[in-house]
Amino acid sequence: MAPEGASSNNGGMSEPTTDRVIHQHPLAYLLGLEGVALMRAFAGEHDRAFSEARIAEIRDLLERAEELGPGVDVPPLPVADGYDGWAGSYDGEDNGCFPLRDDLLAPMLDRLAPGRVLDAACGTGAVSAQLLSRGHEVIGVDASEQMLRRARRAVPGVRFANGDLTELPLEDRSVDHVVCSLALTHLPDLAPFFAEAARVMRPGGHLLVLDTRTHFLGSSRYPLVKTAPDGRVGHIAGYHHGLGDYLRAALVQGYVVRACEEVLRPEVTVPPDQDAEPLTPGPPNIWELHPWAREAADAARSGQSAVVAWDLELRPEV
Ligand SMILES: C[S@@+](CC[C@H](N)C(=O)[O-])C[C@H]1O[C@@H](n2cnc3c(N)ncnc32)[C@H](O)[C@@H]1O
Repeated sequence: MAPEGASSNNGGMSEPTTDRVIHQHPLAYLLGLEGVALMRAFAGEHDRAFSEARIAEIRDLLERAEELGPGVDVPPLPVADGYDGWAGSYDGEDNGCFPLRDDLLAPMLDRLAPGRVLDAACGTGAVSAQLLSRGHEVIGVDASEQMLRRARRAVPGVRFANGDLTELPLEDRSVDHVVCSLALTHLPDLAPFFAEAARVMRPGGHLLVLDTRTHFLGSSRYPLVKTAPDGRVGHIAGYHHGLGDYLRAALVQGYVVRACEEVLRPEVTVPPDQDAEPLTPGPPNIWELHPWAREAADAARSGQSAVVAWDLELRPEV
């Protein structure tokens, strides 16, 4: 990898973001939204007035650049440290992924035959609780001790253990099913997890996978900026996996696809009552930025894939 600040021969991109400082500029994010919105207008999704308004807004944003503040260099943060810091507020926050998760999972969990289930990357135990209430015996595994601490408190009756998705602390064929919700985005490569899930599951069981999708439109990265318990601010690794990536990782292990659902982002990103306010110093908060380019944010994000859910059955041996 090229050292920080050195130029590379690939236009300055495609190096993994997991172990290097990334530069986040609020104006860059807003111009990016304008660009995606303009591209969709160019393809015929919006009219001439929309395109002209976007171009005028770009001029205005460039003139107001000082109000947006400078770009910020954001160092990497290990995933467990980021979630250790996030654990205290994770459940209480207005996270749009949670209702999507619960709506997608409910019918899949209802179809699951009772058994012993691994909640892989269980976090604070939201899915473990749903499994427990359906009569399953549940084991939760996660890499963040603080997320696990919350889970132990919230869902007594489940055995929670610290462990990694790519090296599960379970015996071969020791569970009937595996559920993994909103976590595979943190893995650069899906293959090791699918191999581990196949190892610990009994043939005939189901692997239910939910994962977040596009957020930084057009990018294969999905960094989340978080604060570790000791105050370090940084980005935790995140990746946008294509649908083919899940399929390639699953099929080679002997899984067959029983269902695949995808939820798209709503038409409106910026609530009508949310006005553009002065921005909080530090790494840009994209949710604070959206009202600065309301129509562009709505147009750029509308209908993009938000969450994908897979129901995969491990083919019984013949
Ligand atoms: C967005 S949370 C999802 C938690 C829970 N499954 C849910 O649906 O609310 C992602 C979780 O994945 C965990 N995680 C990320 N990478 C991991 C890895 N390689 N091994 C184990 N856990 C991991 C994090 O610690 C975090 O608790």
